[in-house]
Amino acid sequence: MSEGSQIVYLNGSFLPIGEARVSVLDRGFIYGDGVYEVIPSYRRAPFRMPHHLRRLQASLDGIRLANPMNDEAWDALVRDLIARQPFEDQSVYLQVTRGVAKRDHAFPKGAAATVFMMSNPLTLPSRDQVEHGVAVVTADDNRWLRCDLKTTSLVGNVLMRQFAADHGAVETVMFRDGWLTEASASNVLVVRGGTIVAPPKDHQILPGITYDATLEFAREAGMAMEIRPVRREEALAADEMWLSSSTKEVLAVTSVDGSSFAGGEPGPMFRRMYAAFQSHKPAASRRA
Ligand code: PDD
Repeated sequence: MSEGSQIVYLNGSFLPIGEARVSVLDRGFIYGDGVYEVIPSYRRAPFRMPHHLRRLQASLDGIRLANPMNDEAWDALVRDLIARQPFEDQSVYLQVTRGVAKRDHAFPKGAAATVFMMSNPLTLPSRDQVEHGVAVVTADDNRWLRCDLKTTSLVGNVLMRQFAADHGAVETVMFRDGWLTEASASNVLVVRGGTIVAPPKDHQILPGITYDATLEFAREAGMAMEIRPVRREEALAADEMWLSSSTKEVLAVTSVDGSSFAGGEPGPMFRRMYAAFQSHKPAASRRA
């Protein structure tokens, strides 16, 4: 596929990405005034689409923007977009902004929402990352207090993710007032004494679809879990720490701030969890 020929969706049409154009007055460009979703799709089957569409609705409600489509229409569009790509496992990105209008912070009257969708190859963590875990760094969470909304205003997360990149780490794990929140682009769970401990889904973290899937699969597998706030000291002294996201699935943390963490290898609970996660994916795209 040549650069620029990938088929994307913009405001009612499918077209090559090189021809997709949005006005410079789009409020997504001017204000980051929009919301988005990332839906993994295995062997062209979207994973947990109803959950993603529910979260999309919650994000739209949170920024007071009417949903431009019903769930059936979203579902059909996502599947249509997937069918138009030459690769099997995909990461569908969709965003809705408040549309094009003269610059004024207050909502414009009568502007139509901009809807953009693209689908890229789903790049899952490498075998080495799964088997040996990944490095994270830590920082104080300085983002706004509506982290439960999946908005396109992501500069706070961008700076955190770059901080990780600057230190050769995959993620920055954040703490607000000494409590674990999440990472720049994933949720964080820890394991203490054989129990998975996950911070509650409140306004300080994104309600991750993979976080929910992880806890659901863990429950089915008979693993113990608790949902409660986690102190920084507790997280940093945990037996295991995991990241979860649509593009990372579940990944073990084996280095924190440049020091070996949890023995430097993914722990036994992670191995169980990873196997449980893989067993819930369509057979053809499972990893050993
Ligand atoms: N990010 N927390 C943050 C801040 C995130 O950006 C994400 C996902 C998650 C995990 O959510 P989910 O399990 O639904 O993917 C948690 C996506 C993948 C992204 O922005 O690319």
